[in-house]
Amino acid sequence: MYDEFKANCYAAYRPELHDVPLELHLGDRRFRDGLDVGCGTGHSARALRAYCRRVTAIDSSQTMLRHANPTAGITYMHCGKKGWPVPRSCIDLITLGGSLFYLDKEDVVKEINRVGRDGTRILVYDFIFDPLPYLRALGVEKHEVPPNEYRVDCHLPTTAASKLRHEASKHTEVLLGIEPVDFAYLLLSEDWCRIALERRYGPERTNEAIVGSLRQRIAPNRRLLVPFDVTSILYRLRNPTP
Ligand SMILES: C[S@@+](CC[C@H](N)C(=O)[O-])C[C@H]1O[C@@H](n2cnc3c(N)ncnc32)[C@H](O)[C@@H]1O
Repeated sequence: MYDEFKANCYAAYRPELHDVPLELHLGDRRFRDGLDVGCGTGHSARALRAYCRRVTAIDSSQTMLRHANPTAGITYMHCGKKGWPVPRSCIDLITLGGSLFYLDKEDVVKEINRVGRDGTRILVYDFIFDPLPYLRALGVEKHEVPPNEYRVDCHLPTTAASKLRHEASKHTEVLLGIEPVDFAYLLLSEDWCRIALERRYGPERTNEAIVGSLRQRIAPNRRLLVPFDVTSILYRLRNPTP
């Protein structure tokens, strides 16, 4: 659930990894109109902006959008159930960073065909880390991962009907140095981790308790080194539905 608490965590910290798949797949290429679908509090939209002259960033959560910082060249818009608030045939590059899992793929393909042009690129990417060793170090012994918990999914259908062509799949590992205060936001932005940590430290000032505990485990002024898996797939739209 993308509520006020999660929006605060996302706005405060997201791993700076959005530019990794963009760089891997697109290198020096630059585009005119970009669309970021499921932009959250804007981290993925800002990464896309570095590749596009203009970016439209859309999300179904007004709460997440309220926490997005205004940035030159990025227009944030709310999207409801009626499709993406973008005119037909005007987008050159579409990104979905950590959002495809939540979307209906049939609707996504329909909307890509509507807003894209022949040759439009679609980059679906995600990055994850394993929170379990950190939860254990923080004294969380029992935790429940709900069966409908988030899964990485970067696959779009590449059938003749979808008009999408697979261009390249990439997978890389990145070791990120993260400040304890930021790592606390990262852990708390995952619903089941938040539940487990609030059970361990109490619902009040959980964040401070986690930071205190993490600081005891690393040398002063050091960061935690956290390995992330970054997965991405690039598609190309061919002869979109007229
Ligand atoms: C894991 S967050 C990723 C946010 C952002 N892309 C980032 O990497 O920081 C997933 C986002 O998808 C949004 N989302 C979920 N369902 C959606 C839908 N049907 N249409 C648009 N956005 C949606 C959520 O509100 C949330 O902001």
